[in-house]
This record gives sequence, C-alpha cells and structure tokens, in this order.
Amino acid sequence: MQLNEGRWQLAGHDVEALAEQHGTPLYLYDEQTIRRQVKRFRNAFGAFDHRIHYAMKANSNRDVLLLMKNLGLGIDAVSIYEIRHALEVGFDAHQILFTPNGVPFDELEQAIELGARLNIENLTYLEQLGEAYRGDVPCTLRIHPGLVMPPSSRDATGWYQRSRFGIGEDQMAQALRLVELHGIRVEGLHVHSSSMILDEQVFGAAAKVLLDLARKLPNVMAIDLGGGIRPPYRDEDDHPDLDALAHSLTKPLEQFESETGRSLQLWFEPGRYLVAESGTLLTRVNVIKQLGGRTIAAVDTGFHQLLRPKLYDAWHEIKNISNPHGPQQVIDVCGCLCEEDDLAKARSLPEVREGHLLAIRNAGAYGYSMASTYNSRPLPAEMML
Ligand code: LLP
Repeated sequence: MQLNEGRWQLAGHDVEALAEQHGTPLYLYDEQTIRRQVKRFRNAFGAFDHRIHYAMKANSNRDVLLLMKNLGLGIDAVSIYEIRHALEVGFDAHQILFTPNGVPFDELEQAIELGARLNIENLTYLEQLGEAYRGDVPCTLRIHPGLVMPPSSRDATGWYQRSRFGIGEDQMAQALRLVELHGIRVEGLHVHSSSMILDEQVFGAAAKVLLDLARKLPNVMAIDLGGGIRPPYRDEDDHPDLDALAHSLTKPLEQFESETGRSLQLWFEPGRYLVAESGTLLTRVNVIKQLGGRTIAAVDTGFHQLLRPKLYDAWHEIKNISNPHGPQQVIDVCGCLCEEDDLAKARSLPEVREGHLLAIRNAGAYGYSMASTYNSRPLPAEMML
C-alpha cells in the first residue's frame, strides 16, 4: 500500500474510491503480492524436486484458488467441502491432498471416490482404510510434531508436544503393523511442525525424522513438510529465511539418496505465507467515543469478520486511509458486535474521526475464511485486485 500525493493506493487503485464504489466492510486481495510470495517460495526451494499444495483453509476465495491453480499449485484440503470447492474451481483430484482429523470416515470414502490423495493422521483411520480398501488406496502418514522436536529442544512453549495431530512415537510400531497387515502402500510421510515457523532448522529436523522412517517404507516417494512459514505482520518482524530453511534440507536429503539410491520429492503446504500479506480489510468508522480515559473508534467490521485479534491476540497493522497526515493519537479500535470486540488496543494512528476509512492489513490469511454470521450480520464482500 503506497501513499501517493496524499492518497493511499493499493495495487494501483485509489483505496478511498474502492470503498466508495463497493462499500465496506470489504476484503481486498492483491494478486501481485500472492504471485510474489509464490515466486519467493519457488525460488528458495527451486533446487529440489518439489510440489506446493496450497493450504486453502487460509483463504478459499475463488479467485485466489484460480490464481493458485494457474500458478501450478495443488491443494491441501481438510474437509470434503474444501475438496469439492477445489474440484469445482478446476483442480485435478490428484493434485488435492486431504488431511482430515476427527471427521467421519465417510468423508474419507467420498474423497477416495473423488480421487483425492489421503494423508492419515491416526490409527483409527489407518485401520478403517486397511479394512475397507486393503492395498487398493495409497496414503501418506502424518507424523506427530513431537517426533521432530523432542521435549526441551528449541520449544519453550511445549507446542510440539501438546499438538493433537499426527501419529505419535508410541503408536508408530502399531501403525507399521497395520500397514503391513493390510498391504497399505504408504507413498509419503508428512509433518506439520507449527503454524508460526521462524526457526531455520525446523525443516531439516523434520526431514531427518521423516527420512529415517522412509528407510522402512520402500514405497515412500515424497516427504511433506507441511506449512507454517510465517510472513512478517509488523514492520519490525523478522522475515523468514527461506534460503536457510531450504539449506537445512540439503544434507539429510543427499545422505538419504546416497545411502538408499532413492530420490524423494519434497512437498509443502504453505497457506499464510502465500496469502497473508495480500489481504486488506477496509472498514468505516461509525462512532468515536471517549470512555474511562480511552478513545474508542467503533468500526463496521468486528471479530465476526476478522477473528484473529480476539482469538490469538494477533496484531494487524491499521492505517487511517482518510487522514494520512493527521496528528498521531492513541486509540482503541473495536468492532460493531454486541460483545467486547477489540481489533486493536492503544494503537497510535493519525487522528481518527467518524466516517473515516481504516485499512486492516495482512488480513489475507485466516480472515474471511474464519468469518461467521454472528449477530446475524452478513459476510463481507471480497474482491481480487
Ligand atoms: N498443513 C496443515 C496440516 C495445517 O494444519 C496447516 C494449518 C497448514 C498446512 C497451513 O499452515 P500455514 O502455512 O497457513 O501456517 N487460524 C490460525 C492458523 C491455523 C493453522 C492451522 N493449520 C491463524 O489465524 O493464525
């Protein structure tokens, strides 16, 4: 977003004019930013035979999906509804990797029928798959991230151990027994390490664990390192070092290849990294209020349309589009729901008045896709620029 002669512009459009033309609240996605992110990702991992399955849970807008398809990406899907949506947009079923957890087995059966690939994360599904299809349906196995990051290593929060996803260390022997018993062809191994990766060693550590397991499974032709690369949300945030992440993979892969003579594909499932920075939520200030020493701007969106600040205390940059050069003022920005609905607390912004247009930035991932109709409010409009 650029300031040009006192007017904010986004992808060559005047932001105020977009809001006047299309109304608010309005989600805008900048196509060029998505293209840039896909390119950065591809450049970093270009030395490897790799495939990207875009995690459509981050943003399943039709134009975003079409763009990903045209850029040659596949899809990481988590529900039969996402699979149907991706098929309807034009993805080949074979490009869709389905990673269900806790869904009825019936959804897996439908996915198989439609031709999607399966990523199995628990023993129940593995057994059901084996019993129903014997060796006819191949799958990848999702490994618990605690296997990648053992307790105490680089994980102050214990996130890796607490995750409920994937087959755990103590279940691995049983999983391998089921694979053998039913003659299931395991064609890939998967781990999603975290959703906010900044540690450059994570992919390398994950690859080592998956490659060790791949030695016992001769049909494995890909290892899938999941998503989780975090783009910056504020100016002072570190940019993820994709080259370092890629570099950490070189040695384990070379070693595996020279020892086994097998060369494996690398799969990734980025969501946030590809789309977060492309998204802006435009919202209008309805009411300015002074209360208990605070100045509060109530806007025409809220956590029904951007849940991340409420749910994760997430920080999204806000710009006052209508008053770029106004004097700085500390203000709380809250939504229009009948509930505590802070979008930002004690934020320093150019003076905000009623009727002003605000832009909430980096809202392209897990924004609209997590929206609801709480308070019976309709979903916001979305538009690709
Ligand atoms: N693959 C798997 C198996 C996942 O569970 C996820 C995200 C991804 C890929 C994509 O991760 P990403 O690259 O987008 O970080 N609602 C939260 C994020 C939840 C992520 C869940 N899984 C948020 O707004 O921050």
